[in-house]
Amino acid sequence: MRDHFEIRDHDAAGRIGRLEVPRADVTVETPALLPVVNPNVLTIEPSRLESEFGAEMLITNSYIIRSTDRIRDRAVDEGLHDFLDFDGAIMTDSGSFQLAEYGDIDVTTEEIIEFQRRIGSDVATPVDVPTPPDADRERAERELATTKRALADAEAAETGEMLVNAPVQGSTYADLREEAGRHAAGTGLDVFPVGAMVPLLNSYRYAETVEAVRAAKRGLGPGAPVHLFGAGHPMMLALAVAAGCDLFDSAAYALMARDGRYLTVSGTEHLEDLDYFPCSCPVCAEHTPADLRELGEGDGDGPSAERLLAEHNLHVTFEELRRVKEAIRSGNLLELVDRRARGHPAMLDGYRALLDHADELERTDPGSKDAFFHTSHEATRRPEVGRHRDRLARLTTPEALLLTESKAPSDHDYDAVWRVKPPFGPYPPALSETYPLTAEVPERTDDAAQVAAAEGVAALASANPETDLTVGHDAWCDRALDRLPDRVETENLRTLG
Ligand code: GUN
Ligand code: ZN
Repeated sequence: MRDHFEIRDHDAAGRIGRLEVPRADVTVETPALLPVVNPNVLTIEPSRLESEFGAEMLITNSYIIRSTDRIRDRAVDEGLHDFLDFDGAIMTDSGSFQLAEYGDIDVTTEEIIEFQRRIGSDVATPVDVPTPPDADRERAERELATTKRALADAEAAETGEMLVNAPVQGSTYADLREEAGRHAAGTGLDVFPVGAMVPLLNSYRYAETVEAVRAAKRGLGPGAPVHLFGAGHPMMLALAVAAGCDLFDSAAYALMARDGRYLTVSGTEHLEDLDYFPCSCPVCAEHTPADLRELGEGDGDGPSAERLLAEHNLHVTFEELRRVKEAIRSGNLLELVDRRARGHPAMLDGYRALLDHADELERTDPGSKDAFFHTSHEATRRPEVGRHRDRLARLTTPEALLLTESKAPSDHDYDAVWRVKPPFGPYPPALSETYPLTAEVPERTDDAAQVAAAEGVAALASANPETDLTVGHDAWCDRALDRLPDRVETENLRTLG
């Protein structure tokens, strides 16, 4: 891995970074969304992608350019930047996607890297083999070996200042993804796309998407810039960023528009079904769904409905990306993921899969951020809860200690009184003003938060076997009470009045 990537802020495994792209002489802020530009059909002109949407980088397909006479010569003569009229960074794909779709392409890594260099690409791609999800293991291993040879060919090529992608394959085998990630990071290549995800993304298999990303990241290590190839639906950006992805590419904005589909942060709607636009982008502010339906192909001068839908789709995607970046800055990215998880059951599966890796997220999660909001069962599995529990196991306690959800009684015989806050559990008064114990929690706690708090008590009890512990709880459920060690006394504050 060459070093062109700098990480500035973290939240969970998400980060704000800077990717230096020397050949374009620009630095791209990540997370970044690369609109996919089909060189044959400019749904939205690349210069507008830059000026109106804020795209700092786009992606186009060098294989399509190379195999289309009319545009190949122009791209070679003018260079991609002039040909597309785009000053930002340009990434090019290699034809691997066509390989996956049609089974065969007539170009080698050596040839396509050389072609990408000739047309002035800033980030090139070798001919990796995108092994689809659920492929049998023997095929996944064989194709991964081919991808590794493609990476070696790319390393051997003359690339000058051009960065080069090192795609990570391995289908749905976590150990192969991890191994592929470790191998890719060990090459001299620059950017690390997690590949062959389109079939998972198209069928909303977000839990498996998260598993593949986490496996690749375990191999790649935390410093690698990671691209989630083919991902650009606004619904899943927060989740994918929280899992550790830095770059995205959206063909969805244009492909969906072609089918009359309208993207939102909680899914995809059909223009046919809408009475109102729930958005205030320039398109939605100026049109109603009925306007667009009537517009169809357009009136000759103005844009078509498809084009306006594509513009909305891109606006809502960039808007969500800015929201994700702001959430990283404020430290409430997981609150945003949690909100997005309420928009679609498949997203909830993705969020739950992410929380299965809370220990990995904890390693890059900042120690202090904006107040933790406890607004769902899932939040009990956030990294902060586990981190507090680990800390409890290291705290020492006096001989007789009251842990209570309410204020300390005015008159008591304990050596000390600590507060208990579900889902974290007990904490000494000295920690009450520190993250995450400054959390905002609902007055009506749920069972999952009570169970998590009881586990905190259990951690404290096992670290301090000599301490007499009493828990004053607000009518905890049986499942939470069952989690307390037998020697812990309990008082139901509700029945005490
Ligand atoms: N576009 C979407 N998925 C892939 C992939 O796995 N490899 C390449 N090269 N391009 C892609
Ligand atoms: Zn809109």
